[in-house]
Amino acid sequence: MDGATYQGIALDGDAALALLEWQMEMGADVPVMDEPVDRFDLPARVAAPDLPPIAVQATPAIPPIPTEADDRAERLSQAEALAAGAGSLAELAEVQERFDGIELKKGARNFCFADGNPKARVLILGEAPGDEEDRQGRPFVGRAGRLLDQMFGAIGMARDAADAEKAIYITNVLTWRPPGNRDPHADEIQTSLPFIRRHIQLADPDVIVLMGNIACQAALEKRGILRLRGQWTQAFGRPALPMTHPAYLLRNPAAKREAWSDLLSLSARLESLSV
Ligand code: URA
Repeated sequence: MDGATYQGIALDGDAALALLEWQMEMGADVPVMDEPVDRFDLPARVAAPDLPPIAVQATPAIPPIPTEADDRAERLSQAEALAAGAGSLAELAEVQERFDGIELKKGARNFCFADGNPKARVLILGEAPGDEEDRQGRPFVGRAGRLLDQMFGAIGMARDAADAEKAIYITNVLTWRPPGNRDPHADEIQTSLPFIRRHIQLADPDVIVLMGNIACQAALEKRGILRLRGQWTQAFGRPALPMTHPAYLLRNPAAKREAWSDLLSLSARLESLSV
C-alpha cells in the first residue's frame, strides 16, 4: 500500500486499509476509477480468432433412477415367480413367508397363512390378521373368528372337520397384520394377489366366500359389500359369494339376519354342486 494517495493526500498502508474498510462499510462494493470511462470511445474489440471446435466428449449414459412404479412392478414379478414355483400349500407358505416385498412383514409378529382343512369345499377369504391372529399366526382366531365359527357351525361346517364336505378352509388377502388394523393399501393387495391366486389353485375349493370389502376388492375389484353380499358371482374362476364380515356383524347385529340368509344360500349351492 506504500505510495497510495486519496484525493491527492499520501496514505501509508494502515491508513489506506482503514479507508478501504470504511468505504466498504459505507456500502461501496464496486471500485471505479478517478476519471469516468467513455466506453463508446474505446477502440473496437479485436475479433476473437476462429478456434477449432472443442470436441465434446459423450457423457456415459446414466441409468434411470428406479421409480416407485418400477419397484412395485419388480416386487409383483417376484411374487408371481415365487407363487408359480410353489407346488404345494406347504411350499407356498414357505416362499410367501420368505418374500420381503410387503413392508408389513417388518412390523408383524407372525406370518398368518391359513387355518382349517385345506381339502374343504369352501374357502373363506378374509381381510388381514388382527391383533390376536398376529400373536397366534392363524387367521380368524379373535372375536370375529369366534363369530365366524358360530356362523358356519350353524350350517354344520367347521374348520376342524376332517370331512371335506363339512369343513371350511380359511385364509386372508394379507398374511401380515397391518399396523393398527388399518385397511390394506391397494399396493399391498396387488402384491399379494399372485399368492392368493396360487393358494386358491392349490387348495382347489368348490366355492369361495368373500368375507367383507377387502376380499371383494382383491377378488372382484369392487367394494360396497352391503350391495354385493348374497349375490353369487365368479372369482378366481370359481363360484364366489360375498358376505358381510363377522367384525361388521359384531358392530351391527341387525345385519346377522342377512348373513344367515347368505349362509343358507351357500349351503344350498354346495348341495346343488354335489348332485
Ligand atoms: N379379520 C379378518 O378378515 N381376518 C382375520 O384373520 C381376522 C379378522
